[in-house]
Amino acid sequence: MTPALTLGDVLRRATEHLGKTSDTARLDAELLLAHSLGRERIELYTEFDRPLSDAELDGYRALVARRAHREPVAYILGEWGFRRLTLAVDRRALIPRPETEIVVERCLVRLRDVDAPRVLDVGTGTGAIALALADEHPGARVTGVDVSADALALARENVARTHLDVELLEHDLRIGLPSGPWDLVVSNPPYVEPEELETLMPDVRDFEPHLALVGRGATEAVARAAPAELAAGGWIVLEVGDGQAPATAALLDELGYADVATTPDLTGRDRVVEGRHVGG
Ligand SMILES: C[S@@+](CC[C@H](N)C(=O)[O-])C[C@H]1O[C@@H](n2cnc3c(N)ncnc32)[C@H](O)[C@@H]1O
Repeated sequence: MTPALTLGDVLRRATEHLGKTSDTARLDAELLLAHSLGRERIELYTEFDRPLSDAELDGYRALVARRAHREPVAYILGEWGFRRLTLAVDRRALIPRPETEIVVERCLVRLRDVDAPRVLDVGTGTGAIALALADEHPGARVTGVDVSADALALARENVARTHLDVELLEHDLRIGLPSGPWDLVVSNPPYVEPEELETLMPDVRDFEPHLALVGRGATEAVARAAPAELAAGGWIVLEVGDGQAPATAALLDELGYADVATTPDLTGRDRVVEGRHVGG
């Protein structure tokens, strides 16, 4: 009789297997095993020598097979961390990214001295930015809009899950922004050019909604529409794609925004462009 595989054995094997397609194979293997066993990831380390039952092995193998087919770990787990929140995620909306946490950081800096700011999140997806702002600036009155009814349904689940007060509306940014005045308009709009879609990793291209990824001119549309709805002195904060920061900063200058500034993400890429609306 072959000895039963231990938790440590299966982690090693899964890491090797996933290493063919994932740069984060060990982390993926651990997250999936913890999820499959109903444990915290840290708890795995105290159980390395425990043999797994056949049922446990089968359950884990099924999850590893999904990841080997390039499904993002977040979609397999069904939830993902963003700032202080754990949000429901699935194929209806983009998985919130670490760089978007910097967008929230910049918004919080701009809202620091405003007790009850009115905030609009354009293209809210899971609701990540809107919910994080409501969570971390308790006085904020936050509205999230999206053109995707599917994404909004998921965002509603996240409002219920987090017990935070965020208003959600179906709205297409191409017709302008919902009526303000807003103290802050934030957006992580789709910023992949249509011809770049094929160059994205299959994990992204084949699983995340193309409506969330691809959008020619969405950043410019938000920047052009915002002044009509921003309060005097209100801020626009935009997440941009690699290499897009200089052109976006130049656009904000040209549109008359003041104090235009760019902030890098944790990998040093210029990722967030912001500016202040000076008009009345
Ligand atoms: C890059 S995702 C950002 C999602 C979320 N804010 C985040 O940062 O994780 C862009 C979002 O914009 C939405 N979107 C795309 N086109 C839009 C449009 N014309 N009007 C409003 N929202 C749009 C997509 O459905 C998607 O949820």
